[in-house]
Amino acid sequence: MRVGPTWQCVEFGRDPYAWQRSVGGGGLIEDRELGGWIVADYRLARQVLAGPRFLKAPDRALPGPYTDRMQELSGSSLLFMDPPDHGRIRATMRDRFRPAAVKELGPSLKNAAVDAVRNWQTAGTDFVAGAALPYAIDVLACVLGVRTPDREMFVENTRLLVREFSVPLDSPEQRLIVGAKVELVAYLLEELEARQGLAGDLLGDLIGAQRDGRLSAEEMISAALSVLVAGVQPMADALANGVYQLAGHADQQQLLRSRPDLLANAVEEVLRHDSSVTLTDRVAAADLTLGRCPVQRGQWMFPALALANHDARVSPAPTEFDISRPSILHSSFGAGAHYCLGAGLARAALMAFFETLLQESVRIDLADTGASRRSEVPASRGFVALWIAVAWR
Ligand code: HEM
Repeated sequence: MRVGPTWQCVEFGRDPYAWQRSVGGGGLIEDRELGGWIVADYRLARQVLAGPRFLKAPDRALPGPYTDRMQELSGSSLLFMDPPDHGRIRATMRDRFRPAAVKELGPSLKNAAVDAVRNWQTAGTDFVAGAALPYAIDVLACVLGVRTPDREMFVENTRLLVREFSVPLDSPEQRLIVGAKVELVAYLLEELEARQGLAGDLLGDLIGAQRDGRLSAEEMISAALSVLVAGVQPMADALANGVYQLAGHADQQQLLRSRPDLLANAVEEVLRHDSSVTLTDRVAAADLTLGRCPVQRGQWMFPALALANHDARVSPAPTEFDISRPSILHSSFGAGAHYCLGAGLARAALMAFFETLLQESVRIDLADTGASRRSEVPASRGFVALWIAVAWR
């Protein structure tokens, strides 16, 4: 039986904004089931994400089922680490995500976008399976440096791996997911063995860091898998959220078609309007007060990125999708030490994709098939299936 509002429910997964209205929630909502605070106020959410009094590692949290689950998941992933290990591991990957490195990937992103859009056109499937997921995986393959002969294995196993957190632990699919992880780990170990010298890609950087002692072999593998898990699903979800809004708002689509200079702003609005990561977590490092709420040391704090992005004091008329909105502020990539490592790459990849889709089509609309379905995973927002009617050029 539920003891009070919690974000770990189907309703939050289905529609976090409607959930917030239904619990009568303001800027701070007590999660009675998990014993923490959901932070929906933009300013306070930034304080929790970036402030020194909030940590990431679940072993700093008060005991409870959520703490147990997060400890199980965390392994040696940098997503769940605090200093000094977090900084050490992040530093081994930083160069590959700097603006100059992302710029260098530009032609590969454009080719991947053209392939994804054209393959989707030929396959005639829904947008998620036909375009969003293959493109997101391709982007990750580009940055990691997965070579052509390994691509098929990589795509197949990554498709499964990214479902790890959305499939119940007792589901038979978890066995397939474990199998996929084993194959990916074997592939990474083979690369570790086989690669000589610098390759100019993320796997090369990680292997170099392992060889000169900055990373253990386990950390090197975990870092590569963390990037895959952190990158693919939010990317695919952001693509689907964006296509859904453009197809559902003919005026905004038309505006973007006639004003391609709005593309970067349109991407920011897609990210703000429907954050594909709806919520993340931190642990309070000390007894403190946030807003006017007392917070206990070790208590869980849940910055609700999607809700904070809809804080009307920061984004007037927040539910409106408006690609010409001036100075867009959002926290969809988080903030502080764990700020999304792939934010610049994700922005460039989203721009390449939307630009290509608009170039290859005359018009996109929501298809009236009744088969589109939002995903209901509580901390993410996207689609399981999204059917789009496209008038191709
Ligand atoms: C639109 C797409 C994306 C969104 C919305 C997104 C969102 C986020 C958010 C909210 C966080 C912070 C989580 C926290 O503070 O607890 C994060 C972290 C991270 N993201 Fe992204 N991400 C996206 C794409 C990517 C891509 C393409 C990559 C890699 C190629 C990537 C790699 C990472 C990594 C490695 C972290 C962990 C950083 C750390 O803990 O230091 N992300 N992402």
